[in-house]
Amino acid sequence: MRFVDTIEKKADGNVLSKEEIHEMITGFVDGSIPDYQMSSMMMAILQKGMTPEETAELTMAMMHSGDTVDLSDLPGVKLDKHSTGGVGDTTTLVVAPLVAACGGTVAKMSGRGLGHTGGTLDKLESIPGTCIEQPMDRFKEIVKENGVCVIGQTGNLVPADKKMYALRDVTATVRSIPLIASSIMSKKLASGADAIVLDVKTGTGAFMRTKEEAFTLAQLMVDIGTLVGREVRAVVTDMNQPLGMAVGNALEVREAVQLLSGMIPETDPLYDVCMLLGTQMLLMGGLAKDEADARAQLQAHIKDGSGLKKLQGMITGMGGDASYLTVENMEKLVRVKQHVSLKAESSGYISSMNAESIGTAAQMLGAGRAKKEDLIDPAVGLVMKVRCGDQVQAGDELCDLYVNQDGNLSDVEQLLHSAIHITAEKGEIEPMVYGLVTRDTRKN
Ligand code: URA
Ligand code: CA
Repeated sequence: MRFVDTIEKKADGNVLSKEEIHEMITGFVDGSIPDYQMSSMMMAILQKGMTPEETAELTMAMMHSGDTVDLSDLPGVKLDKHSTGGVGDTTTLVVAPLVAACGGTVAKMSGRGLGHTGGTLDKLESIPGTCIEQPMDRFKEIVKENGVCVIGQTGNLVPADKKMYALRDVTATVRSIPLIASSIMSKKLASGADAIVLDVKTGTGAFMRTKEEAFTLAQLMVDIGTLVGREVRAVVTDMNQPLGMAVGNALEVREAVQLLSGMIPETDPLYDVCMLLGTQMLLMGGLAKDEADARAQLQAHIKDGSGLKKLQGMITGMGGDASYLTVENMEKLVRVKQHVSLKAESSGYISSMNAESIGTAAQMLGAGRAKKEDLIDPAVGLVMKVRCGDQVQAGDELCDLYVNQDGNLSDVEQLLHSAIHITAEKGEIEPMVYGLVTRDTRKN
């Protein structure tokens, strides 16, 4: 079949065969299918959609476009987690070591932050000496010794996604749910885990702006997992305000150390989402008999400090100075030239926040990149002092800014004031967790 006929088939709303999907990816990666035809195909997919079975074939074709990681020589069920990207999302630094402390095997590849969302690699690099590029053998050695290691992507994983994403970006096809699902899942599956928990964020700081879209994406990714024989579960969580209080690299490392040291209450949203993700990982790994047992184990490993020890062990293994990862020493990571307190301009209730703007404000202080080449200042960022639903008086502190370069400070403050909405009425506050998606929640 000529590729133009395959495009027409999709444009007419038909289901593509396994062979057509594999030919499309092979041809696009080797250059025999030009960008203009692939653009047209992706627009047809955006408009006509794909079945879960087609999306699973697309995912597999993309996954096999490059290297895949084989973790089969590591013991036990290899567990992974993935977040679709949020602000103040420090969950990996908490959950990965905690699950390892409970006996799990977590061999994870992570990404960098771009725009308003943070990346785990940048957070790890804020700990002096830590090298996020490790040879595969060394990566596995750290996992064998310590139960957990999180590194940057190695090898040439999913070249099809890099090429497709670049084209989607300039052809208004980023938002296609089957294209997002196959993009995320091809990379997760290529990095070798047996079981994956996905945290699909929805709200002002997330890719998926509505709950409905987030649940659709979550179910599709879970279904892809089922169709290709890996266990995937997803939680849909709120990103209408930062998840943790800290937004910034070392600031988020400090918050993870605080959580793993038992300094953060159970009612805290970051704590809650960490428990939820950790629980699903332990259940998928066969390490807990039910949710209550999983939660009790996770909490026990916070209380006895063994979760923090796993984080320290991983950092030591990666050449970093783990002595910073203690309650006594962590303040050294976040030393800055000045602190600026953002104060409420009126009295009332925090009715909503724009999490994307808060992430952008931290980025403008130097915590993130606007462009891939930008340098990060690990210590800067902000710590929220309020959450949605809190009552404030004019003059109360809304957030504490950690500043080294104050050239754009007034722009940052203005952005934050416009991002934190104070109203006379308390209004409805969204929950942090909207629900769990598993193979059993599939509707058809
Ligand atoms: N994240 C990805 O990795 N791919 C997408 O398409 C969207 C979000
Ligand atoms: Ca993340």
